[in-house]
Amino acid sequence: MIINQNQLRKVIPIASGKGGVGKSILSANLGIMLAAYGRRTVLIDLDLGGSNLHTYLGLKNRQSGIGNYVSDKSLDFNSLLSDTPYTNLKFVAGDVLVSGTANLMHSQRKGLISRIEKIDADFVILDLGSGTGLNVIDFFLIANAGIIVSTPQTPAILNAYNFLKNAVFRQLQRSLNSPKKVVNYLKDVVKDKKPGATPTISQILDKIEGISAKAGAEARAQVDGLLPHLVLNMGESPEDLEIGYSLRDLVGRNLGVSIGCLGFVYQDKAVAAALKGLKPVVVDREDSLVSREIDRIAQKILQSPQYPVMPLDLQEYEDSFGLATIEARNDFTEVDGMEDARQRAGVSPEDFLAIIAAQKKKIEELQGTVRMLTMGQGPR
Ligand SMILES: Nc1ncnc2c1ncn2[C@@H]1O[C@H](COP(=O)(O)OP(=O)(O)OP(=O)(O)O)[C@@H](O)[C@H]1O
Ligand SMILES: [Mg+2]
Repeated sequence: MIINQNQLRKVIPIASGKGGVGKSILSANLGIMLAAYGRRTVLIDLDLGGSNLHTYLGLKNRQSGIGNYVSDKSLDFNSLLSDTPYTNLKFVAGDVLVSGTANLMHSQRKGLISRIEKIDADFVILDLGSGTGLNVIDFFLIANAGIIVSTPQTPAILNAYNFLKNAVFRQLQRSLNSPKKVVNYLKDVVKDKKPGATPTISQILDKIEGISAKAGAEARAQVDGLLPHLVLNMGESPEDLEIGYSLRDLVGRNLGVSIGCLGFVYQDKAVAAALKGLKPVVVDREDSLVSREIDRIAQKILQSPQYPVMPLDLQEYEDSFGLATIEARNDFTEVDGMEDARQRAGVSPEDFLAIIAAQKKKIEELQGTVRMLTMGQGPR
Protein backbone atom coordinates (compact mmCIF):
# COMPACT_ATOMS: atom_id res chain seq x y z
CA MET A 1 0.00 0.00 0.00
CA ILE A 2 1.29 3.45 -0.91
CA ILE A 3 1.37 5.76 2.11
CA ASN A 4 0.49 8.95 0.26
CA GLN A 5 1.81 11.43 2.81
CA ASN A 6 5.32 10.00 2.42
CA GLN A 7 5.30 10.23 -1.37
CA LEU A 8 5.80 12.97 -3.90
CA ARG A 9 3.82 10.77 -6.28
CA LYS A 10 0.27 10.40 -4.99
CA VAL A 11 -2.26 7.77 -5.98
CA ILE A 12 -5.82 8.83 -5.27
CA PRO A 13 -8.45 6.11 -5.69
CA ILE A 14 -12.03 7.45 -5.84
CA ALA A 15 -14.70 5.05 -4.62
CA SER A 16 -18.24 4.90 -3.30
CA GLY A 17 -20.51 2.37 -1.67
CA LYS A 18 -23.52 3.36 -3.76
CA GLY A 19 -23.44 3.91 -7.52
CA GLY A 20 -24.27 7.14 -9.30
CA VAL A 21 -23.02 9.49 -6.59
CA GLY A 22 -20.50 11.40 -8.73
CA LYS A 23 -17.21 9.46 -8.68
CA SER A 24 -16.58 9.83 -12.40
CA ILE A 25 -17.52 13.51 -12.52
CA LEU A 26 -15.14 14.17 -9.64
CA SER A 27 -12.33 12.00 -11.07
CA ALA A 28 -12.43 13.65 -14.50
CA ASN A 29 -12.67 17.23 -13.30
CA LEU A 30 -10.24 16.85 -10.40
CA GLY A 31 -7.75 15.32 -12.84
CA ILE A 32 -8.18 18.24 -15.24
CA MET A 33 -7.68 20.76 -12.41
CA LEU A 34 -4.55 19.08 -11.01
CA ALA A 35 -3.13 18.98 -14.53
CA ALA A 36 -4.08 22.63 -15.06
CA TYR A 37 -1.98 23.49 -12.00
CA GLY A 38 0.97 21.96 -13.79
CA ARG A 39 1.05 18.55 -12.15
CA ARG A 40 1.60 15.51 -14.36
CA THR A 41 -1.65 13.63 -13.82
CA VAL A 42 -2.91 10.25 -15.01
CA LEU A 43 -6.59 9.36 -14.89
CA ILE A 44 -7.44 5.67 -14.99
CA ASP A 45 -10.90 4.27 -15.63
CA LEU A 46 -10.98 1.27 -13.30
CA ASP A 47 -14.75 0.92 -13.26
CA LEU A 48 -14.44 -2.40 -15.02
CA GLY A 49 -17.77 -3.48 -16.46
CA GLY A 50 -19.07 0.09 -16.28
CA SER A 51 -16.35 2.23 -17.82
CA ASN A 52 -17.54 5.66 -18.90
CA LEU A 53 -14.88 8.08 -17.68
CA HIS A 54 -14.00 9.00 -21.28
CA THR A 55 -17.44 10.56 -21.76
CA TYR A 56 -16.87 12.87 -18.78
CA LEU A 57 -13.61 13.95 -20.39
CA GLY A 58 -15.35 14.50 -23.71
CA LEU A 59 -13.28 11.76 -25.40
CA LYS A 60 -14.29 9.02 -27.83
CA ASN A 61 -13.32 5.61 -26.55
CA ARG A 62 -11.09 4.39 -29.35
CA GLN A 63 -7.89 3.66 -27.46
CA SER A 64 -6.87 0.37 -25.88
CA GLY A 65 -7.53 0.27 -22.16
CA ILE A 66 -7.41 -1.93 -19.09
CA GLY A 67 -9.64 -4.52 -20.81
CA ASN A 68 -7.13 -4.94 -23.64
CA TYR A 69 -4.22 -5.08 -21.22
CA VAL A 70 -5.79 -7.84 -19.16
CA SER A 71 -6.67 -9.95 -22.19
CA ASP A 72 -3.48 -9.40 -24.20
CA LYS A 73 -0.26 -10.26 -22.39
CA SER A 74 1.91 -8.74 -25.11
CA LEU A 75 0.56 -5.25 -24.50
CA ASP A 76 2.88 -2.80 -22.71
CA PHE A 77 1.02 -1.07 -19.87
CA ASN A 78 2.61 2.29 -20.64
CA SER A 79 1.18 2.18 -24.16
CA LEU A 80 -2.28 2.55 -22.58
CA LEU A 81 -1.47 6.06 -21.36
CA SER A 82 -2.99 8.25 -24.07
CA ASP A 83 -2.81 12.00 -24.47
CA THR A 84 -5.87 14.12 -23.80
CA PRO A 85 -6.73 17.62 -25.04
CA TYR A 86 -5.44 18.82 -21.64
CA THR A 87 -1.77 19.57 -21.06
CA ASN A 88 -0.24 17.33 -18.36
CA LEU A 89 -3.24 14.98 -18.33
CA LYS A 90 -3.02 11.41 -19.59
CA PHE A 91 -5.87 8.94 -19.67
CA VAL A 92 -6.08 5.16 -19.40
CA ALA A 93 -9.35 3.82 -20.75
CA GLY A 94 -11.36 1.09 -19.05
CA ASP A 95 -12.78 -1.99 -20.70
CA VAL A 96 -15.41 -0.71 -23.12
CA LEU A 97 -13.61 -2.27 -26.10
CA VAL A 98 -13.03 -5.63 -24.39
CA SER A 99 -15.72 -6.72 -22.00
CA GLY A 100 -15.58 -9.48 -19.41
CA THR A 101 -12.98 -7.81 -17.24
CA ALA A 102 -15.38 -7.09 -14.38
CA ASN A 103 -14.24 -10.12 -12.38
CA LEU A 104 -10.48 -10.09 -12.51
CA MET A 105 -8.59 -13.01 -11.08
CA HIS A 106 -6.43 -12.33 -8.05
CA SER A 107 -3.22 -12.56 -10.10
CA GLN A 108 -4.56 -10.22 -12.80
CA ARG A 109 -5.52 -7.69 -10.17
CA LYS A 110 -2.12 -7.94 -8.52
CA GLY A 111 -0.35 -7.46 -11.85
CA LEU A 112 -2.44 -4.42 -12.64
CA ILE A 113 -1.87 -2.90 -9.21
CA SER A 114 1.89 -3.24 -9.49
CA ARG A 115 1.82 -1.49 -12.90
CA ILE A 116 -0.31 1.34 -11.50
CA GLU A 117 2.04 1.75 -8.54
CA LYS A 118 4.93 2.31 -10.95
CA ILE A 119 3.34 4.99 -13.15
CA ASP A 120 5.59 8.02 -13.40
CA ALA A 121 3.35 11.00 -12.61
CA ASP A 122 2.62 13.45 -9.81
CA PHE A 123 -0.95 12.26 -9.39
CA VAL A 124 -2.65 9.05 -10.43
CA ILE A 125 -6.42 9.18 -10.04
CA LEU A 126 -8.41 5.97 -10.13
CA ASP A 127 -12.11 6.13 -11.00
CA LEU A 128 -13.46 2.96 -9.39
CA GLY A 129 -16.73 1.05 -9.70
CA SER A 130 -19.24 1.16 -6.89
CA GLY A 131 -19.80 -1.52 -4.29
CA THR A 132 -17.63 -3.70 -2.11
CA GLY A 133 -16.27 -6.31 -4.53
CA LEU A 134 -12.58 -7.10 -4.29
CA ASN A 135 -12.01 -5.40 -7.66
CA VAL A 136 -13.02 -2.17 -6.03
CA ILE A 137 -11.64 -2.63 -2.52
CA ASP A 138 -8.19 -3.83 -3.60
CA PHE A 139 -7.85 -0.90 -6.00
CA PHE A 140 -9.03 1.44 -3.25
CA LEU A 141 -6.32 0.05 -0.98
CA ILE A 142 -3.53 0.79 -3.47
CA ALA A 143 -3.06 3.93 -1.38
CA ASN A 144 -3.95 4.72 2.21
CA ALA A 145 -5.78 7.93 1.35
CA GLY A 146 -8.56 7.26 -1.10
CA ILE A 147 -11.56 9.48 -1.60
CA ILE A 148 -14.98 8.14 -0.76
CA VAL A 149 -17.82 9.95 -2.50
CA SER A 150 -21.34 9.98 -1.14
CA THR A 151 -24.49 11.99 -1.50
CA PRO A 152 -26.02 13.24 1.76
CA GLN A 153 -28.82 10.68 1.62
CA THR A 154 -28.97 7.94 4.24
CA PRO A 155 -28.72 4.93 1.88
CA ALA A 156 -25.59 6.35 0.22
CA ILE A 157 -24.00 7.17 3.59
CA LEU A 158 -24.75 3.70 4.94
CA ASN A 159 -23.21 2.20 1.82
CA ALA A 160 -20.17 4.43 2.30
CA TYR A 161 -19.87 3.16 5.88
CA ASN A 162 -20.20 -0.41 4.70
CA PHE A 163 -17.57 0.19 2.05
CA LEU A 164 -15.10 1.55 4.60
CA LYS A 165 -15.80 -1.32 6.95
CA ASN A 166 -15.06 -3.83 4.19
CA ALA A 167 -11.93 -1.91 3.22
CA VAL A 168 -10.58 -1.91 6.78
CA PHE A 169 -11.32 -5.60 7.20
CA ARG A 170 -9.67 -6.41 3.88
CA GLN A 171 -6.59 -4.44 4.90
CA LEU A 172 -6.36 -6.47 8.11
CA GLN A 173 -6.72 -9.70 6.17
CA ARG A 174 -4.06 -8.67 3.66
CA SER A 175 -1.53 -7.52 6.18
CA LEU A 176 -1.76 -10.10 8.97
CA ASN A 177 -0.10 -13.34 7.92
CA SER A 178 0.73 -14.70 11.37
CA PRO A 179 0.17 -16.20 13.87
CA LYS A 180 -2.08 -18.85 12.36
CA LYS A 181 -4.66 -18.36 15.09
CA VAL A 182 -5.20 -14.75 13.99
CA VAL A 183 -5.40 -15.72 10.32
CA ASN A 184 -7.97 -18.40 11.12
CA TYR A 185 -9.95 -16.03 13.32
CA LEU A 186 -10.21 -13.53 10.45
CA LYS A 187 -11.35 -16.33 8.15
CA ASP A 188 -14.02 -17.35 10.67
CA VAL A 189 -15.34 -13.78 10.87
CA VAL A 190 -16.00 -13.88 7.12
CA LYS A 191 -17.61 -17.33 7.27
CA ASP A 192 -20.02 -16.50 10.10
CA LYS A 193 -23.09 -15.36 8.19
CA LYS A 194 -25.55 -15.41 11.11
CA PRO A 195 -27.45 -12.11 11.39
CA GLY A 196 -25.79 -9.87 13.94
CA ALA A 197 -22.74 -12.14 14.10
CA THR A 198 -20.36 -9.67 12.44
CA PRO A 199 -18.20 -7.98 15.08
CA THR A 200 -17.17 -4.34 14.75
CA ILE A 201 -13.60 -3.62 13.72
CA SER A 202 -12.89 -2.46 17.29
CA GLN A 203 -14.03 -5.86 18.58
CA ILE A 204 -11.92 -7.59 15.97
CA LEU A 205 -8.87 -5.56 17.03
CA ASP A 206 -9.46 -6.45 20.68
CA LYS A 207 -9.73 -10.11 19.79
CA ILE A 208 -6.53 -10.06 17.71
CA GLU A 209 -4.73 -8.34 20.58
CA GLY A 210 -5.99 -11.07 22.93
CA ILE A 211 -4.48 -13.73 20.67
CA SER A 212 -1.16 -11.98 20.09
CA ALA A 213 0.08 -8.62 21.36
CA LYS A 214 2.41 -8.29 18.38
CA ALA A 215 -0.33 -9.01 15.80
CA GLY A 216 -2.63 -6.67 17.74
CA ALA A 217 -0.13 -3.81 17.48
CA GLU A 218 0.36 -4.48 13.78
CA ALA A 219 -3.42 -4.56 13.23
CA ARG A 220 -3.87 -1.22 15.01
CA ALA A 221 -1.03 0.33 13.01
CA GLN A 222 -2.69 -0.84 9.79
CA VAL A 223 -6.01 0.70 10.78
CA ASP A 224 -4.35 3.92 11.98
CA GLY A 225 -2.55 4.19 8.66
CA LEU A 226 -5.81 4.48 6.73
CA LEU A 227 -6.75 8.11 6.13
CA PRO A 228 -9.66 8.16 3.68
CA HIS A 229 -11.38 11.41 2.81
CA LEU A 230 -15.04 12.03 2.17
CA VAL A 231 -16.45 14.22 -0.59
CA LEU A 232 -20.11 14.90 -0.02
CA ASN A 233 -21.64 15.50 -3.43
CA MET A 234 -24.97 16.78 -4.72
CA GLY A 235 -25.81 18.57 -1.50
CA GLU A 236 -28.71 20.98 -1.32
CA SER A 237 -28.03 22.96 1.84
CA PRO A 238 -25.24 23.26 4.45
CA GLU A 239 -27.31 21.15 6.86
CA ASP A 240 -26.63 18.20 4.57
CA LEU A 241 -23.16 18.10 6.11
CA GLU A 242 -24.69 16.81 9.35
CA ILE A 243 -24.87 13.35 7.87
CA GLY A 244 -21.18 13.64 7.00
CA TYR A 245 -20.41 14.30 10.67
CA SER A 246 -22.50 11.23 11.58
CA LEU A 247 -20.45 9.14 9.17
CA ARG A 248 -17.23 10.51 10.63
CA ASP A 249 -18.37 9.64 14.16
CA LEU A 250 -19.65 6.19 13.23
CA VAL A 251 -16.46 5.32 11.35
CA GLY A 252 -14.33 6.60 14.23
CA ARG A 253 -16.26 4.67 16.83
CA ASN A 254 -16.83 1.37 15.06
CA LEU A 255 -13.88 1.15 12.69
CA GLY A 256 -11.27 3.11 14.60
CA VAL A 257 -10.51 5.09 11.44
CA SER A 258 -10.50 8.86 11.35
CA ILE A 259 -11.87 10.15 8.06
CA GLY A 260 -11.30 13.64 6.77
CA CYS A 261 -13.56 15.74 4.58
CA LEU A 262 -12.19 17.13 1.33
CA GLY A 263 -15.23 19.13 0.47
CA PHE A 264 -18.93 19.60 0.03
CA VAL A 265 -20.21 19.92 -3.54
CA TYR A 266 -23.64 21.31 -4.29
CA GLN A 267 -26.03 19.90 -6.84
CA ASP A 268 -25.47 22.13 -9.84
CA LYS A 269 -27.28 22.33 -13.17
CA ALA A 270 -23.95 23.19 -14.81
CA VAL A 271 -23.01 19.48 -14.64
CA ALA A 272 -25.87 18.37 -16.90
CA ALA A 273 -25.43 21.37 -19.19
CA ALA A 274 -21.74 20.60 -19.71
CA LEU A 275 -22.45 16.91 -20.27
CA LYS A 276 -24.94 17.78 -23.00
CA GLY A 277 -22.12 19.40 -24.92
CA LEU A 278 -19.82 16.45 -24.08
CA LYS A 279 -17.43 18.72 -22.23
CA PRO A 280 -15.98 18.52 -18.70
CA VAL A 281 -17.77 20.98 -16.45
CA VAL A 282 -14.59 22.67 -15.18
CA VAL A 283 -13.73 23.49 -18.80
CA ASP A 284 -17.17 24.26 -20.19
CA ARG A 285 -18.40 26.24 -17.16
CA GLU A 286 -15.35 27.17 -15.18
CA ASP A 287 -17.21 29.85 -13.22
CA SER A 288 -20.00 27.53 -12.07
CA LEU A 289 -20.23 26.72 -8.38
CA VAL A 290 -19.48 23.03 -8.93
CA SER A 291 -16.32 23.91 -10.91
CA ARG A 292 -15.05 26.21 -8.17
CA GLU A 293 -15.80 23.57 -5.54
CA ILE A 294 -13.81 20.95 -7.45
CA ASP A 295 -11.04 23.53 -7.96
CA ARG A 296 -11.00 24.02 -4.19
CA ILE A 297 -10.61 20.27 -3.65
CA ALA A 298 -7.68 20.30 -6.09
CA GLN A 299 -6.13 23.24 -4.23
CA LYS A 300 -6.50 21.54 -0.86
CA ILE A 301 -4.60 18.56 -2.23
CA LEU A 302 -1.92 20.75 -3.81
CA GLN A 303 -1.50 22.92 -0.74
CA SER A 304 -0.95 19.86 1.44
CA PRO A 305 2.55 18.59 0.64
CA GLN A 306 1.86 15.76 3.07
CA TYR A 307 -1.60 15.08 1.69
CA PRO A 308 -3.80 13.48 3.09
CA VAL A 309 -2.47 15.36 6.12
CA MET A 310 -3.78 18.87 5.55
CA PRO A 311 -2.42 22.03 7.17
CA LEU A 312 -5.62 23.06 8.97
CA ASP A 313 -6.12 26.06 11.18
CA LEU A 314 -7.52 24.22 14.17
CA GLN A 315 -8.08 27.43 16.11
CA GLU A 316 -10.75 28.33 13.59
CA TYR A 317 -12.54 24.99 13.27
CA GLU A 318 -12.47 21.51 14.72
CA ASP A 319 -11.17 19.57 11.73
CA SER A 320 -11.52 19.23 7.96
CA PHE A 321 -15.28 18.74 8.39
CA GLY A 322 -15.40 22.10 10.17
CA LEU A 323 -13.62 23.75 7.24
CA ALA A 324 -16.02 22.07 4.77
CA THR A 325 -18.94 23.39 6.82
CA ILE A 326 -17.69 26.97 6.58
CA GLU A 327 -17.17 26.54 2.85
CA ALA A 328 -20.61 24.96 2.36
CA ARG A 329 -22.29 27.84 4.20
CA ASN A 330 -20.37 30.33 2.13
CA ASP A 331 -21.21 28.61 -1.17
CA PHE A 332 -24.85 28.39 -0.20
CA THR A 333 -25.36 32.06 -1.09
CA GLU A 334 -24.96 31.05 -4.73
CA VAL A 335 -27.24 28.04 -4.76
CA ASP A 336 -30.55 28.26 -6.63
CA GLY A 337 -33.50 28.22 -4.26
CA MET A 338 -31.42 29.48 -1.31
CA GLU A 339 -34.12 32.04 -0.56
CA ASP A 340 -36.63 29.25 0.15
CA ALA A 341 -34.19 27.67 2.55
CA ARG A 342 -33.66 30.96 4.35
CA GLN A 343 -37.38 31.23 4.88
CA ARG A 344 -37.61 27.63 6.05
CA ALA A 345 -34.86 28.33 8.58
CA GLY A 346 -36.81 31.38 9.80
CA VAL A 347 -33.89 33.84 9.56
CA SER A 348 -34.57 37.45 8.60
CA PRO A 349 -32.97 38.65 5.34
CA GLU A 350 -30.78 41.14 7.27
CA ASP A 351 -29.48 38.51 9.69
CA PHE A 352 -28.96 36.11 6.86
CA LEU A 353 -26.86 38.58 4.91
CA ALA A 354 -24.85 39.42 8.02
CA ILE A 355 -24.13 35.74 8.67
CA ILE A 356 -23.10 35.21 5.08
CA ALA A 357 -20.84 38.29 5.05
CA ALA A 358 -19.11 37.14 8.25
CA GLN A 359 -18.62 33.67 6.83
CA LYS A 360 -17.26 35.01 3.58
CA LYS A 361 -14.67 37.09 5.42
CA LYS A 362 -13.70 34.14 7.57
CA ILE A 363 -13.21 31.83 4.64
CA GLU A 364 -11.00 34.35 2.85
CA GLU A 365 -8.86 34.60 5.97
CA LEU A 366 -8.69 30.83 6.26
CA GLN A 367 -7.67 30.41 2.66
CA GLY A 368 -4.96 32.98 3.22
CA THR A 369 -3.71 31.07 6.24
CA VAL A 370 -3.61 27.76 4.40
CA ARG A 371 -1.70 29.38 1.54
CA MET A 372 0.81 30.95 3.89
CA LEU A 373 1.36 27.70 5.73
CA THR A 374 2.15 25.83 2.58
CA MET A 375 3.72 28.46 0.38
CA GLY A 376 6.53 27.13 -1.73
CA GLN A 377 6.12 23.60 -0.45
CA GLY A 378 4.04 22.08 -3.28
CA PRO A 379 4.60 18.47 -4.29
CA ARG A 380 7.22 19.57 -6.84
N1 LIG B 1 -22.69 18.04 -8.18
C1 LIG B 1 -23.53 17.57 -9.11
N2 LIG B 1 -24.57 18.34 -9.55
C2 LIG B 1 -25.42 17.85 -10.46
N3 LIG B 1 -25.36 16.63 -11.01
C3 LIG B 1 -24.36 15.83 -10.63
C4 LIG B 1 -23.39 16.24 -9.66
N4 LIG B 1 -22.51 15.23 -9.47
C5 LIG B 1 -22.91 14.22 -10.28
N5 LIG B 1 -24.01 14.56 -10.96
C6 LIG B 1 -24.76 13.71 -11.91
O1 LIG B 1 -24.99 12.47 -11.29
C7 LIG B 1 -24.86 11.41 -12.23
C8 LIG B 1 -23.88 10.38 -11.71
O2 LIG B 1 -22.57 10.90 -11.72
P1 LIG B 1 -21.32 9.96 -12.00
O3 LIG B 1 -21.50 9.17 -13.25
O4 LIG B 1 -20.10 10.79 -11.88
O5 LIG B 1 -21.45 8.98 -10.76
P2 LIG B 1 -20.64 7.65 -10.46
O6 LIG B 1 -20.54 7.55 -8.99
O7 LIG B 1 -19.38 7.63 -11.25
O8 LIG B 1 -21.63 6.54 -11.03
P3 LIG B 1 -21.32 4.97 -11.28
O9 LIG B 1 -21.37 4.32 -9.94
O10 LIG B 1 -22.42 4.54 -12.17
O11 LIG B 1 -19.96 4.89 -11.91
C9 LIG B 1 -24.43 12.02 -13.55
O12 LIG B 1 -25.55 12.12 -14.38
C10 LIG B 1 -23.94 13.38 -13.16
O13 LIG B 1 -24.21 14.30 -14.18
MG1 LIG C 1 -18.59 6.24 -12.57
